Order: sequence, then structure tokens, then C-alpha cells
Amino acid sequence: MRRILIAGNWKMNLTALEARVLVASLRSDIDRDAAALARDRDVLIAPPAVLIPAVSQALAGASIALGAQNMHFEDQGAFTGEVSAPMLKGFGVTHVILGHSERRHVFHENDDLINRKILAAARHRLTPILCVGETQHEHDAGRALEVVLTQLQAGLSGLYPQHRGEVMVAYEPVWAIGTGRNATPEQAEHVHGAIRESLRDQFGQEIADSIRILYGGSVTADNVDSLVSKPNIDGALVGGASLKADSFARIVRARVD
Ligand code: PGA
Repeated sequence: MRRILIAGNWKMNLTALEARVLVASLRSDIDRDAAALARDRDVLIAPPAVLIPAVSQALAGASIALGAQNMHFEDQGAFTGEVSAPMLKGFGVTHVILGHSERRHVFHENDDLINRKILAAARHRLTPILCVGETQHEHDAGRALEVVLTQLQAGLSGLYPQHRGEVMVAYEPVWAIGTGRNATPEQAEHVHGAIRESLRDQFGQEIADSIRILYGGSVTADNVDSLVSKPNIDGALVGGASLKADSFARIVRARVD
């Protein structure tokens, strides 16, 4: 059985002070049920890079993992404005979101660059969360699966066998991100099933069955239960609703039927 992962992507939001307050209220809410929650799920938050030290401190002793929203593929060097895997690891970061649609569409990251980052994260034993998803235009043209599976195969190509089981995938239809229009559980499950199938072709059944595939795009406390109850939806990558302790804590308690 795959464990659920509920991940919060804070994007470019919050100051250090606000981040500490949010983590404190989140902990005072979910730490109470930590043992029960730990039975079948993991929780992760991904703050902006500059807040990672403060959040790392605020998370001391908590069962909430720390993620980054992006990183460079080199360990060090003349890359003004970038952060590397060893820097992130120094603050206890265990996961890194890569290829988020905002990185692809606002910052023009392509599959090749994203793939280099995935390989670098895996080499450093940071769990990469590869985001894939089609735009509204591609969706309307009936090209969702083609786009998603191309991004998936390119993003994960060249992984050493020992790293293949250590990646995660997030299906985030671009038209659902920050729009309040989430994919229906049936729509998402259809794409997640195709992703699983493609992972089987790429890595074999056992590894494909162990990889967690998250759904992202307007996940809220109201729609998370029906999404994570689908057989191939192994959790959620939550943007807007992860910025409020009460809504994120409710999403963390998603009911899986
Ligand atoms: P959203 O963002 O939940 O605000 O739609 C999700 C994401 O971009 O990861």
C-alpha cells in the first residue's frame, strides 16, 4: 500500500515571521493526532528558499517534512540567484518540487533542464516531486495525455535503477492551478492511471506501483477526500489552501474511502 502525501507549496508567499506563525498553528493542530496520521500518511511543506532556515527551526521535533520549490542542478558555482541540493540538505530539506507549471511557463524551464534537476536531486538523495500537466489549450485540443506523458518520460529519463523508486510525480493540470476549477476525481484518476501505466513501461511494475502520484490544482478541504479516494491518487500538492493553518490541517486529515 502506498502512503498518502499531503504537500503544501507556499509559492512566493509569507515573511519569516508569518511563516513561523503558520507553522506554529499548524503544529498545534496536527501534532495532537500525529501518531494516528503517521499510520498512513506523510505531510510536507515547501516554503520559499529564503524561509527554509526559519521553517526548519520551527519544525524541530515535528513529523512534518521540509521541501524546496526548486533548485539548480549544479552543486555550486557562478549561478547568481540559485540554490543547490547540498545547501538545501544542510537545513534538513528532504524533498524538492521540480518542473512546477510556474517554473515551466513563467520561467521557461524545459524538459531537458527539469530532467537535469531531477537527476541532481536523486543523486543527492533529495526526493524529487516531478510536476507535469497540460495547459487549457492542450486540454481543449484533447492532448492532455500526450503532453503529460511526454513531460513524464523526459523528466525521469536517465535515472539510475536505484533512484527510480525514490521519485514522486504530481499531476497538476495548468488550467486547475489557482483557478478554483479542480479536475474532477474521475478526470484526475484517468490521467493518474495513464501515468502509472507509463511508469510501468519505463521502470517495471514493482517500482511503478511504489511511486506516489499526487494531484494538484485547486485542492481544498472540500474536494480532497474524493480525490485521494481514487486508487491512483496518492495525495495532494496544495497551493493556496496550504497558506492557512486550518484549511491545510483539514486537508492533511483527508478521508480515504
Ligand atoms: P493551487 O496550487 O492549490 O493554489 O491551485 C497548486 C500548485 O500550484 O501546486
